[in-house]
Amino acid sequence: MHRRLITPGALAAASLLLAIPASAADYQPGAPGAGDAYYPNYGNGGYDVSHYDLRLKYRPATDELEGTATIRARTTEDLSRFDLDFLLDVGEVRVNGAKASFATSGEHELEITPATPLRRGTPLTVVVRYSGVPSTKSAYGFSTWHRTPDGAIAADEPESAWWWYPSNDHPSDKATYDVSVQVPDGTQAISNGTLLPTRSKQGWTTYTWRQHKPQATYLTTLAVGKFDITTGKTSTGVPIINAYSKDLGTYDRAARASLERTGEIVDWLSGYLGRYPFDSVGGYVPNTTTSYALETQTRVYYSPKQFAKGANPSVVVHELAHQWYGDSVSLKGWKDIWINEGFARYAQWLWSEHEGEGTTQELADQVYASHPADDPFWTVRPGDPGPDDQFDIAVYDRGALAVQALRDEVGDKAFFALLKGWPKEHAYGNASVADFRAYAERVSGKPLAALFDTWLFQPSKPAARGAVSATQ
Ligand code: ARG
Ligand code: ZN
Repeated sequence: MHRRLITPGALAAASLLLAIPASAADYQPGAPGAGDAYYPNYGNGGYDVSHYDLRLKYRPATDELEGTATIRARTTEDLSRFDLDFLLDVGEVRVNGAKASFATSGEHELEITPATPLRRGTPLTVVVRYSGVPSTKSAYGFSTWHRTPDGAIAADEPESAWWWYPSNDHPSDKATYDVSVQVPDGTQAISNGTLLPTRSKQGWTTYTWRQHKPQATYLTTLAVGKFDITTGKTSTGVPIINAYSKDLGTYDRAARASLERTGEIVDWLSGYLGRYPFDSVGGYVPNTTTSYALETQTRVYYSPKQFAKGANPSVVVHELAHQWYGDSVSLKGWKDIWINEGFARYAQWLWSEHEGEGTTQELADQVYASHPADDPFWTVRPGDPGPDDQFDIAVYDRGALAVQALRDEVGDKAFFALLKGWPKEHAYGNASVADFRAYAERVSGKPLAALFDTWLFQPSKPAARGAVSATQ
């Protein structure tokens, strides 16, 4: 409330004095990276995003993407400037309504200088208008925007956001999303969360997707193409939305036979991991030549090649297990990748046992025996594999061996309690391997330093597969 006696001019001068401290040097540029141990330039410093609203228009024929991103955030430092991570061509930036100047720097930084410096704790609305041809952009040698015969896909780890929306691209800064995409009539756009009603006007159809639970930037996906979209529900009523490219050819049958088990698999996983953490679930299979799958939140990305040998419910188990381990509970830094991949692989082992195809003990024995001590497999330390080995098979298989070793050490009762307890303890948040160890020690009442060291941090084959305490 302002007193009427003060003139508007005096008021502006007074608020200016309040906004700028005695020394302008108090305001510093935000860091160009979030300080990740593996990817120091990914993400940025100085602010915390709460919501991304993306309004996009995409032309499959020419790969032209236009967009307006409205980013709601709050500063965490006094800032003279801050960065977003982005590769497309920016036309205009506004910060809290005022035009801001901007420049590009480094491989993927968009440096934004607001008209007036920002005090710590200031709510921000950053509007970025942009356009570009994503397939022509690259950074650090990556170009992970994948064009398809009828559209394109953004789904990769850790780099995928830079090609289609400006962001604070690090899993430590999760936010909610509205993704609205205009595509030519007859083409569909797929993203995370629930689908709001579609609208069509003058040859363009708008698909609007809403994710109102926190989501990491790399788990935010976009697919444009001609898709067959199917719907269903899990036994507890969670809506299922799956989408299949209309051009899957020989992969179509096996892809459908796999994704059609999504509801059954969510139900089964809930028995081990607790209540499914999101309001929708499903996956999509585009007509791409990539070979991986990715646990994009609520809407998993599956390459057709995942179904090259027929139905593959195991990959559905892996990616859906990530919804608890990775998506709801996200890693603090990329070096914590074992929590994602070790547990998603272990869920596949539990599924194998459930299907009568080999128990977790048998699969652990098999992995242990199939890699002799001089196999480089054992030089990868799943607890801190380094950026080059972040997705090495050892992070998955030795990672799951570590989970089995933990189970052997603490016993089934404590193990299944912590398997289910962890996603609840850190729901919608972030946690590290160190946090996991502390939690496992608390739930089991056992010191686990030696076990974690042996299975996750030594660059060598553990002497025996059983619990560490039994062999000491
Ligand atoms: N988190 C994914 C999975 O295990 C791995 C993605 C690897 N990324 C890639 N571009 N190959 O399901
Ligand atoms: Zn995985």
